[in-house]
Amino acid sequence: MADFYHLGFSLHDLGEYRPTLAILSGDPNRAAQIASSKLTHRKILSENRGLNSYLGLLPSGKPVLSATSGMGAPSLSIVVNELVQAGIRTIIRVGTCGSIQPQVLPGSVAITKAALCRQGAANDIAPPEYPASSDPFLTVALVEAAQTLGIEYALGITASVDTFYEGQERRASANPYLLRWLQGITEEYRHLGVINYEMEAGTLLKMGNVYGFAAACVCGVIAQRTQAEQPVLEAKAVAVQNAIEVALAAAERFA
Ligand code: URA
Repeated sequence: MADFYHLGFSLHDLGEYRPTLAILSGDPNRAAQIASSKLTHRKILSENRGLNSYLGLLPSGKPVLSATSGMGAPSLSIVVNELVQAGIRTIIRVGTCGSIQPQVLPGSVAITKAALCRQGAANDIAPPEYPASSDPFLTVALVEAAQTLGIEYALGITASVDTFYEGQERRASANPYLLRWLQGITEEYRHLGVINYEMEAGTLLKMGNVYGFAAACVCGVIAQRTQAEQPVLEAKAVAVQNAIEVALAAAERFA
């Protein structure tokens, strides 16, 4: 059996020159895209349960994992726990998100300095009041990467929630009736200066603080909630590409 039951690979699969940094995508196709387009000497570690993991080298020659969290905090918590057991000490989440501020536009990237963590899985790791704050050095590296690459970015507080539809106040769904406490929550967050919605960062950042690894998050902005509930499909490819470029440039400084 593999050492890491859900990830589906073992310590010996990582070879002698083990990675300590993982780029963590929600989507297995994005993890594969990062490995195939950006890493050399790549190797498939596992495609177990869609939690695809690839080992490869950054352009500088440093080893890195391109791994998959799956959607949402419960899946992410399992993957991150096993990555830490595998010796990973730095995790950069590369995700997608919806902007809730008018100036944060589709195609750009949102870098999380801390999360408003409304996630059940995170409560199994630390109390609700425990800070979901990003590693400051890794976050500065993400910001500097965006600046160097000329990629439009926003740095701010992310709302990490458990549901894409109800929890992000989407009414165009199977459940148009939203619980009262969710009605108007996006507007409330806007006034609190929250920049974006996504579904994994808060739990990742709490895990980083509790387990002692560096964690940060960069998301491609694919929806603009001041305009519409639906993702802006035309902006997705460029948003994701921008987030990948920023994450890999920052990774070079930390791997
Ligand atoms: N991911 C989310 O969680 N929300 C969005 O609006 C877009 C991507």
